[in-house]
Amino acid sequence: MNPGAGRLIALEGIDGCGKSTQARILSEALGALLTFEPGATELGALLRTVLLDHGRPSPGPRSEALLMAADRAQHVDEVLVPTLAEGRWVVTDRYSGSTVAYQGWGRELGAATLAPVLDFAAGGLAADLAVLVDVPLDLARERLATLAPDRLERLDEGFHDRVRRGFLAQAAEDPLRWGVVDGAGTVEEVAAQVSALVHERLGAAPGVWS
Ligand code: TYD
Repeated sequence: MNPGAGRLIALEGIDGCGKSTQARILSEALGALLTFEPGATELGALLRTVLLDHGRPSPGPRSEALLMAADRAQHVDEVLVPTLAEGRWVVTDRYSGSTVAYQGWGRELGAATLAPVLDFAAGGLAADLAVLVDVPLDLARERLATLAPDRLERLDEGFHDRVRRGFLAQAAEDPLRWGVVDGAGTVEEVAAQVSALVHERLGAAPGVWS
């Protein structure tokens, strides 16, 4: 568990899985701080532009992993640790699980290679619960069809398939920290699953859920 009474919940999944909507609903239900990666700090916003915008030099896989890690380190120090230390709960839209899935599996750097980098970036702060909102690739693609894709979203189906498998592998390897919800239903149906999972694993946030 993290220092202070606050708990850290990460919403994870492939692009188009619906986790950002679920992160917002969950944070409102819990009265938790809602934050995200990459890009939630001032430095992070610059890193996000470098990482995801078109028309900039593309980082190679190792650079990409290190830039994601730099964003995380800043997020941990500036936002996550101070908020948790106040006793407040935090819901983050992506955390270390995304780097394992996207850079470890998608870019094929390997989860084991990245592990020490990710520990260093997080400064020892692990999510109390990582919620994987899992959807098949074709459904995610359908949901993203109307939006302009960023650099990673433009990558081929093989990449996104590896990323999805990377998330599922983490959930299978660490079932105490991870929970998987089926993201294929309506927003309300998925939110009910997320809420049930948080109740089951972490109990109620003080003064929010009775
Ligand atoms: P996100 O903000 O969730 O996407 P969107 O703006 O479309 O809602 O994430 C941005 C992208 O960054 C997404 O394609 C996943 C990627 N990403 C990584 O590759 N590694 C990481 O460690 C993180 C946190 C995100």
